Amino acid sequence: MILITGATGTIGSEVTRLLAEQGVPAKAMTRDPGRVAGPAVRGDFGDVRSLEAAVEGVSAALLLTAFGPEIAAHDRAFVDVAARAGVKRIVKISAIGAGDNEDPEDVGGMHAAGERALTGSGIEWTIVRPSMFATNALGWAEMVKAGQPIPNVTGDGRQGIVDPRDIAAVAVAALTGPGHHGRVYEVTGPDLLTTHDQAELIGRAIGRRVETVDVPIEQAVAQIPDPAYAKAAAKGWAFVAAGGNAVVTTAVQDVLGRPASSFASWAGDNKAAFGG
Ligand SMILES: NC(=O)c1ccc[n+]([C@@H]2O[C@H](COP(=O)([O-])OP(=O)(O)OC[C@H]3O[C@@H](n4cnc5c(N)ncnc54)[C@H](OP(=O)(O)O)[C@@H]3O)[C@@H](O)[C@H]2O)c1
Repeated sequence: MILITGATGTIGSEVTRLLAEQGVPAKAMTRDPGRVAGPAVRGDFGDVRSLEAAVEGVSAALLLTAFGPEIAAHDRAFVDVAARAGVKRIVKISAIGAGDNEDPEDVGGMHAAGERALTGSGIEWTIVRPSMFATNALGWAEMVKAGQPIPNVTGDGRQGIVDPRDIAAVAVAALTGPGHHGRVYEVTGPDLLTTHDQAELIGRAIGRRVETVDVPIEQAVAQIPDPAYAKAAAKGWAFVAAGGNAVVTTAVQDVLGRPASSFASWAGDNKAAFGG
């Protein structure tokens, strides 16, 4: 039995779908099981008892903790409970650039601390470090529909924007197949893209031009009410703007035996969200 944490989110819902498609027994963990159609269990990373109940009878788990300052604490809580319960394998969704990052105010640093909890636990582990999700572009959907420009906080910084369906497929391969223990997969799309490139590709998908407008990072973070989130977002954007995330890898090809999907194809599949 595989436990899928973060099961109602972007990656977890696709992992749930893929496991069901393959007929692999799995249950979704959520704080609100009423939201899930298939097998589900209540679990909250902040409530150890609920985690103990969630891991009962579980041999492998997808560990996905939500973006924010509690990533490391939530990863540690889950790994502790899983180790005590005898869970054999965990696949953790981390973030590209986590590496040896020790900055607790940086998303990479938060994930790095969570990774260390897992890799030191004695449980069979795989770390999946995705680049920027294509689905983040859905945050621009209403602006695009309204004919407004997309805000660009990362200048000419390029990223290997990745289709979350590829991230989920890599995670499922690691959850269900042999040969992934001790592996770190930096999962990216096939192309290095700026926000301008993304705007152009969304424009092509919907058949009309999409403009961008440069927004200083200080101005963008002023709109994020939680200071911890604001700091993490500012650090991430500055890193990308400086070219720090201009990385494309072969992880999707290596693990899945097929090329990574492009942002252009993601935009085509999702054009209705942008009014196309
Ligand atoms: N977006 C990106 O570009 C990007 C890039 C690299 C890495 N990442 C990493 O990917 C992860 C986010 O993945 P995602 O976008 O698939 O997630 P998401 O769509 O934001 O969903 C978050 C999930 O976390 C669950 N959750 C939130 N708080 C919880 C709690 N206290 N206890 C138990 N479950 C909780 C939610 O479930 P319920 O509400 O149902 O409980 C939901 O399923 C983060 O770790 C982020 O750092 C993101």
